Amino acid sequence: MKAIEIDGDKLAWHDVPDPVPRAGEVLIRNRATAINRADLVQRSGGYPPPPGASPILGLECAGEVVAIGEGVARYKKGDRVCALLAGGGYAELVNVPAGQVLRVPDGLDFEQAAALPEVFATAYLNLYMEAKLAPAERVLLHAGASGVGTAAIQLCKVSNNPCWVTAGGADKIARCVELGARGGADRHTESFESLAKGWTDGGGFDVILDPVGGAYLKDNLASLAVDGRLVIIGLMGGADAHVSLGLMMVKRLRIIGSTLRARSIAAKAAVMDALEHNVWPAIEAGAIRPVVEAVIPIAEAERAHALVASNDTVGKVVLSIA
Ligand SMILES: NC(=O)c1ccc[n+]([C@@H]2O[C@H](COP(=O)([O-])OP(=O)(O)OC[C@H]3O[C@@H](n4cnc5c(N)ncnc54)[C@H](OP(=O)(O)O)[C@@H]3O)[C@@H](O)[C@H]2O)c1
Repeated sequence: MKAIEIDGDKLAWHDVPDPVPRAGEVLIRNRATAINRADLVQRSGGYPPPPGASPILGLECAGEVVAIGEGVARYKKGDRVCALLAGGGYAELVNVPAGQVLRVPDGLDFEQAAALPEVFATAYLNLYMEAKLAPAERVLLHAGASGVGTAAIQLCKVSNNPCWVTAGGADKIARCVELGARGGADRHTESFESLAKGWTDGGGFDVILDPVGGAYLKDNLASLAVDGRLVIIGLMGGADAHVSLGLMMVKRLRIIGSTLRARSIAAKAAVMDALEHNVWPAIEAGAIRPVVEAVIPIAEAERAHALVASNDTVGKVVLSIA
């Protein structure tokens, strides 16, 4: 098969050995994959794949099942599926544990389906399973126009949780509002902490989903309501910060750190099952949609990475595979 390999500082579409499905896995003929910010970090050496995972980039895919490992009853050859991967998506073929595979929602093509698994699994896991978001609780989503952010806004909309965002400019905030956010702060010119009181009638946010980390910690803690939960899913603004333990104690705050990729197959399968039951029907009803900024042929992955790195995207950049 062909796959994208990291060749010095370039991405190259090379011949590599075909993977073979092991017990409990399915082999997918990929028709599309999608870029995640983590791919850019992995490429530069900062986010190595977990033990046993493919060294090939790519955390999600969509395509057809072409072979089944021993013990897999849920899928058969020819099924149209999408999958959450620990690696290996930027390739014509990929092996994946069956629990991380879902059927393509009715009405979606492979390019749209490839934009779903990583960002909806991340948003769902962290809002509902980690932060235990309850009905009507108020949410702040940093990087609201990112792949994860656009998924999280739409989840909040269907679960009736008012949400606000931060994003890099008025145009991006307007796109977030179209998707269901109540409003937002331009991270380059406005302080979300100053706006938070007005947005939440002085009460603060119940949940903040934060891929920024260090640079936002102080303002995040100040913006949380009593019993608020801050889920840290990324470190785009650094890994170190001062924590006011007094504020945490008095407001009974919780800070939760969370990654998806390194979790067990069983834990990822639980998230995927939750998506199938709670999110796939909303996609099929048109209440939630994949947000795709661009579809680019996989041989031009270099150009697609540059587009993501520009911070000029809303939602996902998808790679098509002929
Ligand atoms: N923990 C997990 O399991 C997990 C899983 C998936 C993703 N993530 C994390 O979630 C984040 C979003 O991922 P993605 O693939 O959806 O991203 P993406 O679509 O590439 O979007 C990232 C956006 O973040 C904003 N940004 C960039 N640098 C920033 C900085 N220094 N401070 C604040 N904002 C910045 C930019 O938007 P604006 O200019 O509009 O702000 C950029 O477009 C990443 O940090 C990723 O690592 C974590």
